[in-house]
Amino acid sequence: MAANQRTFTDVQRTVLSAHKESTTEDKMSFYDSWSELYEQDMMILDYRAPVMVAESLAAVIHEDRDKALVLDVACGTGLVAKQLQRFGFHNFHGVDGSQEMLELARSKSIYQTLQKCVLDSELLPASSDSYDVVVIVGALSGGQVPFAILPELHRVTKRGGFVCMTTRSNTSNQLYKKQLQAVIEEMEQNGLWERITVQEIEHWEKAIAECEAEQGSTYISGTIYLYRKSRN
Ligand SMILES: C[S@@+](CC[C@H](N)C(=O)[O-])C[C@H]1O[C@@H](n2cnc3c(N)ncnc32)[C@H](O)[C@@H]1O
Repeated sequence: MAANQRTFTDVQRTVLSAHKESTTEDKMSFYDSWSELYEQDMMILDYRAPVMVAESLAAVIHEDRDKALVLDVACGTGLVAKQLQRFGFHNFHGVDGSQEMLELARSKSIYQTLQKCVLDSELLPASSDSYDVVVIVGALSGGQVPFAILPELHRVTKRGGFVCMTTRSNTSNQLYKKQLQAVIEEMEQNGLWERITVQEIEHWEKAIAECEAEQGSTYISGTIYLYRKSRN
């Protein structure tokens, strides 16, 4: 089907087909094959996470945005960096497990570096204490990036830098979300980072699963976790 004829039902079919993928390798192949339609399909889903995350970060980072070095983890085609640019952020490094998503991100000439990195077997390709801001948007959920990555996100962030993470709050992601929050809170209790804001966003994107969607008119909610790495 031509890209300009995509409907909500087409998007629903595509995304639900990915739920059948079992291994990380399968999931990366799914993103490779979806890459060309990804942005158009996310517009059909009214996916608001990149805008909301950029607004959240801009609300707490007021100075030297142009100097801040940002790592966009699971950057996909670059939607998050594009939104952050609107607020004056300019220095982006990106990593993702899908080569085709990375190629689309590369074509936008927003990122200074882009690297392929599959996050379940590999560590982030970055030194410790390197980034002013680390973001991971739309990728912390069951079957995608495991929450075991959180210490890695923390490791590569500079002391006093920000880590911004999102997850979806729909029914099928509840267990993952609970486990993710437990790790975030444990790291907070251990003094690794402090909570800046945790925002529940009611209209995250249109619901896909049949039990949650009514002809694309129902939204699922999502959460943005913004933390600051301790200075000591
Ligand atoms: C829903 S997209 C989000 C992309 C972008 N952050 C955005 O908000 O538009 C999820 C991205 O995570 C990547 N991804 C999923 N699981 C991954 C994993 N285990 N390792 C690396 N990348 C992964 C996919 O390739 C895809 O580009």
